[in-house]
Amino acid sequence: MRASEHWAQKNRNFVVIGGACALFLDLGLLGACAESESPSRVASAGTSASASASSSPAASVAAPSASAPQPLPHAWQNRGLSADDRAQALVHELTRAEKLTIVTGYFGVQKEWNEYRFPEARAQSAGFVPGVARVGFTPQWQSDAGSGVATQGEAPAELERTVLPSGLLTACTFDPALAERAGAMIGSEARASGFNVLLAGGVDLLRDPGNGRNFEYGGEDPLLAGSMVGAIVRGIQSNHIVSTVKHFAFNDQETGRGIVNVVVDEAAARSSDLLAFQFAIELGNPGSVMCSYNKINGTYACQNEWLLSQVLKEDWGYRGYVMTDWHAQHDTVQNALAGLDQETGVSHLGQYQWLDKLSHAIDGGAVPEARLDDMVRRIARTLIEKGAVDEPVAPAAIDFAAHAEVTRADAENGITLLKNEGILPLKSELKRIAVIGGHADAGVLTGGGSAQVYARGGNAVRGLGLTHWPGPEVYAPSSPLVALRAELPSADITWDPGTDPKSAAEAAAKADVAIVFATQWTAEAMDFSLTLPDGQDKLIEAVTSANKHTVVVLETGGAVLLPWLARVPALVEAWYPGSEGGKAIARVLSGAVNPSGHLALSFPRALTQLPRPKIVGDGLPKDQPFDVHYDEGAAVGYRYYDAKHLEPALPFGAGLSYTKFTRGGLSAKLEGAELRVSFHVQNTGARAGKDVALVFVSPVAGGWEAPKRLGAFAKRELSPSASADVSLTVDPRLLATFDVKAHAFRIAKGTYRVTLASTARDPGQSVTIALPERTLPAGAGAH
Ligand code: BGC
Repeated sequence: MRASEHWAQKNRNFVVIGGACALFLDLGLLGACAESESPSRVASAGTSASASASSSPAASVAAPSASAPQPLPHAWQNRGLSADDRAQALVHELTRAEKLTIVTGYFGVQKEWNEYRFPEARAQSAGFVPGVARVGFTPQWQSDAGSGVATQGEAPAELERTVLPSGLLTACTFDPALAERAGAMIGSEARASGFNVLLAGGVDLLRDPGNGRNFEYGGEDPLLAGSMVGAIVRGIQSNHIVSTVKHFAFNDQETGRGIVNVVVDEAAARSSDLLAFQFAIELGNPGSVMCSYNKINGTYACQNEWLLSQVLKEDWGYRGYVMTDWHAQHDTVQNALAGLDQETGVSHLGQYQWLDKLSHAIDGGAVPEARLDDMVRRIARTLIEKGAVDEPVAPAAIDFAAHAEVTRADAENGITLLKNEGILPLKSELKRIAVIGGHADAGVLTGGGSAQVYARGGNAVRGLGLTHWPGPEVYAPSSPLVALRAELPSADITWDPGTDPKSAAEAAAKADVAIVFATQWTAEAMDFSLTLPDGQDKLIEAVTSANKHTVVVLETGGAVLLPWLARVPALVEAWYPGSEGGKAIARVLSGAVNPSGHLALSFPRALTQLPRPKIVGDGLPKDQPFDVHYDEGAAVGYRYYDAKHLEPALPFGAGLSYTKFTRGGLSAKLEGAELRVSFHVQNTGARAGKDVALVFVSPVAGGWEAPKRLGAFAKRELSPSASADVSLTVDPRLLATFDVKAHAFRIAKGTYRVTLASTARDPGQSVTIALPERTLPAGAGAH
């Protein structure tokens, strides 16, 4: 008989089947269970959550409450000790049941379907891990936060927060310092909202442009994605809270995300998706890594020993903790042995894998007790080291006005001008402008799912899209139309909703310039077609035919097909531009802002250019497992286009400015063992602007997955005729291939080409350099 059943039979009036009280009985600690149950009952008395909270295992163990006595100082609380020593002291002090409390997380929402509703959880939050009041150890309040502090479901006014542009837009800024500032802003709102663990930091590589979560991630290149996401994480954690990188790893499509098995060769993995994580972890030092739902080479990510213990903890020396994606735990013993440190997202009674189940596994010898101690040590050490223990989070006022500036700056640096035949910036003498479509009269689109943030003012366009999660479509109330009218006060700016191409064309025909907005909502748990929905291509065609001075503004999650590209004179990709997005778009169109965003991804000409023209698994019965083979290996994005000699519609790095830059003086040399690339850049146009220079590296003799890789990048702001000298180091792993047998990155001796360019298709200028052979350990970081 399972111990929990045994216990339930004897203690019918006490608690639900399973759980920590059952565990206490097994440990001979029933008294402790009964004692510790009462405070949480008192605390929750009279609340709608009381019934479920008092019957939830962890609540009965250690959930803190207002009425709990102030804890006496404990050895682990001595701030004079190192985080390691404090964590170790805590482990010594905790009972097994308390340890199990710290490694088990629940859904935070107070909805009926959540059978573990904790009164202490933050309203509408993703997760809650009870603390251990007896020893004064903090609860963990977890929130999604990729684009700001998210809510599970529509937010009431008091939970509305600043919406940062999508992660993809932030990647398109090519500006890690700006990303860090954006992260710091999110982190401060999170702290002020009472969260000490953020589920931010999405860095899955953009392998499939149809992936519904691409908007949350950092694009198709490991260096760019890792650098930008690492910077966001660093910013978040500057608020003395924990951030996460996710979803580790290869969660590159949402179709069948819980059953798909990604088949990838190790060498390719280490030079692509894993390298993006490696960079993000080195640069951001996230307290936590969230393992993903999918399988990798046959084993679920959250019980994949190779991934969690070998790659992450051993090779990369990662000292934080691994949490599951929400309820991605499948096997008590496997999860524990593979290197998972915290299960999360438990919402149904008995749905957990740990608590009493792990305790029995420890008693039976299947899992060493030391593994549980290691989990707790990692979690505690991280929370102490990041400051979340000594500087407890508490709800506080938020400076929304200051934060609006931060999100607007992000948007203005990431909105990407992709085509401009002299029509932009809009001339101030324009008399009549027709703005059409995309709900531009009301707001800007945001991405859906667990990352959904509700901007202040709520959803500006209601009733669109799915009526259930991950919907609905949510617009931040920042109207590009209103902002454009403010930017260009002397123009007559008309509005047409774009629902009828004929009337839109008529409006366009009467104007000097037509601006047509097109949107594509994307979200977690779904993948999307690359064709703009709702006949918007037809709308664009109709407007362009009516007025050859047409600007297309896109608000999309990622790449879409652009069948009309040759016929429109100007194209602006605004992504999901956040709660000041309307203003940012208007300022780019008017020229108040000189655009400086560049594509963090390639736009295909046609689906046939993709390694997988159709998302694998699409159309299969819901629960039928399937494999996705990453036959392209590490040739992701532009690397794939190069390897296959394909010309994308828009290449990685594309992005125009209203000024001109001239680059020169390229040189490459070895400084010690490192490859250092130098050049200068000058603003040769008439306006101040920001240049993004890309440095590609390639072995002249070939031998990589693709001809070249991005080795470094730099963004520099220059006033007219100003110039700057730039010097960059190429991370050695970008010059190497991974030798699985030797368990190391190896740079082959030979001649390498270093190319300074604007995009992945720009021949740019090149120099060559001879590099000696070099071997780097699997965990080698250049930082
Ligand atoms: C998502 C995670 C998220 C979690 C909690 C899951 O569905 O995949 O990214 O952090 O929910 O909301």
